[in-house]
Amino acid sequence: MSNFDLHIFEMPKRYTVTAALPYTNGPIHIGHLAGVYVPSDIFVRYLRLRGRDVVFICGSDEHGVPITIRAKKEGKTPQEIVDFFHENIRNSFQEFGISFDNYSRTSDPIHHSTASEFFAKLNANQKFEETESEQLFDQEAQQFLADRFVIGTCPKCGHTESYGDQCEQCGTSHNATDLLNPKSALSGSKPIVKLTKHWFLPLNQYTDFFKKWILKDHKIDWKSNVYGQCKSWIDDGLKPRAVTRDLDWGVPVPVPGAAGKVLYVWFDAPIGYISSTKEWAERLQKDWRPYWQDSDTELIHFIGKDNIVFHCIIFPAMLKAEGSYILPTNVPANEFLNLEGQKLSTSKNWAVWLPDYLVDFPNQQDVLRYVLTANAPESKDNDFTWSDFQARNNNELVAIFGNFINRVIVLVNKYYDNAVPQYDVLSTEDLEILETIKTFPDIIGKDIEAYRFRAASQSMMNLARLGNKYLADAEPWKIFKTDPHRVQNIMFVALQIASALAVLAEPFLPNTSMKLKNALNFNALKQKPNWESLHAEAITIPPEHELHNSELLFSKIEDSQIEYQLQKLEQRKKDNQAESKKISTLKEPVPFESFKAMDLRVGTIVEAQKMPKANKLLVLKVDIGSEVRTIVSGIAEHFQPHEVIGKQVTVLINLKPRLLRGVESQGMILMTENQDGALVFVNPDKQNSPNGAEIA
Ligand code: MF3
Ligand code: ZN
Repeated sequence: MSNFDLHIFEMPKRYTVTAALPYTNGPIHIGHLAGVYVPSDIFVRYLRLRGRDVVFICGSDEHGVPITIRAKKEGKTPQEIVDFFHENIRNSFQEFGISFDNYSRTSDPIHHSTASEFFAKLNANQKFEETESEQLFDQEAQQFLADRFVIGTCPKCGHTESYGDQCEQCGTSHNATDLLNPKSALSGSKPIVKLTKHWFLPLNQYTDFFKKWILKDHKIDWKSNVYGQCKSWIDDGLKPRAVTRDLDWGVPVPVPGAAGKVLYVWFDAPIGYISSTKEWAERLQKDWRPYWQDSDTELIHFIGKDNIVFHCIIFPAMLKAEGSYILPTNVPANEFLNLEGQKLSTSKNWAVWLPDYLVDFPNQQDVLRYVLTANAPESKDNDFTWSDFQARNNNELVAIFGNFINRVIVLVNKYYDNAVPQYDVLSTEDLEILETIKTFPDIIGKDIEAYRFRAASQSMMNLARLGNKYLADAEPWKIFKTDPHRVQNIMFVALQIASALAVLAEPFLPNTSMKLKNALNFNALKQKPNWESLHAEAITIPPEHELHNSELLFSKIEDSQIEYQLQKLEQRKKDNQAESKKISTLKEPVPFESFKAMDLRVGTIVEAQKMPKANKLLVLKVDIGSEVRTIVSGIAEHFQPHEVIGKQVTVLINLKPRLLRGVESQGMILMTENQDGALVFVNPDKQNSPNGAEIA
């Protein structure tokens, strides 16, 4: 048995491959594609080509706070939001060619029942701790603040915009009560803590298990970014995690006495992989269980780096607690893709949206697949730029792959009327090329199996490079008249390279591969070449085989197309700036007493000085009729001291005094912005009101 045979022999027979369920709070963008869906699709297409039994699972993640927030913002119900984006996402995946075996949704009854039963079983088997604990509560909105409903400072890295359940800057996952200076995303108010009962998964009880299963058993085969994140959580000490929430959108907690509570979205969503598999199996009248419960099955989760803790720690702990499931073999998480140097953001509309791409670049799915793979954020964050997109298309897909195929097809058509020429004694160089072709399936396959899709795509392109160079060196067009026999050999060998490319490009460029197979008329071949056969035999299209006429595989992307895309992004930047200046949301009503409690008076600034060693502060003396108050005001970047002396202003005089740089500030001057965004006083000027006059 050769090494290669052994290698095939050892590949397990069954694979369950999952791609992170996208939140239905916006369309799919290039970050999702590069991080999760393109690599998983390459992997799965490869496995299928290798004859594996594979199910490729995805679906919409329809619970969770981001959806509720978007619904609130748009004045819609969460159901309306998820219905819209579920359709939008499913359609764009389909048009783009991500080859899921099933695309489900977590609002489906099959998912609600699967998730409920899962929870109920864990509960019955006492796998949870039921604890009354203090959770953040927004008194204005009368709601508990879970997850993204609360923003505050990350206790680990100091990022000031961390969410309640996770910090996007350092990736740490925490409890909302861990945040410093928490603020409600609903009302902006400072939350109070309030007692409420929740079900906790005691991750701390699984510490030894994780130390062995991840830190020891997966030290070598998991990507270092994934392993590193897991190690840091385990080293920090695993803590019990609440898996229920006080919210009205989600899977209801299926036990008595849990009214108004739902499963935490990160508890229900990964179970969505299981429900989606069930849905698929029902449709095909298969048994879903081997795909989740047979230890021969490899379970592989494709995700982005912000999902690592959920797929490597929390979900495996759930699966283990349940008892009948297998655990993931690998979790090949990617880092993030940026766009033109800026972090992608759904809420800031900073993205290349898949539905837009499909309109702007019709029938060019493979171009985006290729660019996102060649520049995939596999081991570090990467940047997508439109100029790189254009260069990869024009210099690689068009100038190397497309050019090689086009030359072969055109010359065979011209010299031999579309029939594969006879060959005679091949030169050493020709034989070497045929030998080299045979090494490619293994080179590419090994990289795909190790989740190195960038490298794999580059090897595929190297085969096209080899073909291009072979033709450029041999120059058949120069010797066609003088040495027709040699040209027959050259074109014969070039055709074998083209045929190998048609097979090996399939995981990366499925549409191109299909077009090329058509052009080479694979249908008429008795023995169709495939990944395995290429390894043994590089001659796959025999003499006299008839080719088809074909269309060009790739076309040049013009500067004007790129400029249009860049203009769109420029416009979004402007819109964002305008948006941030827009009228802020109106605050909740306050009782009249709260207003009456504020003592607002007319005053006149009589003195003004810069606060030493502070850029922003002015120390003002303000005459409020009955007395002169000292007020420290953060307006020094907007006004020179001499500009403000003599101004009549509105002063809140009963604000509790505060020490600022050692000076006691005894009130606050009311300010607003004018239409140019400049700071101005709210002044009773020109009304002839005396200092000390009440404002009510
Ligand atoms: N919706 C999540 C996200 O977009 C991913 C959920 S993956 C699953 O980050 F495992 F929960 F399904
Ligand atoms: Zn952080």
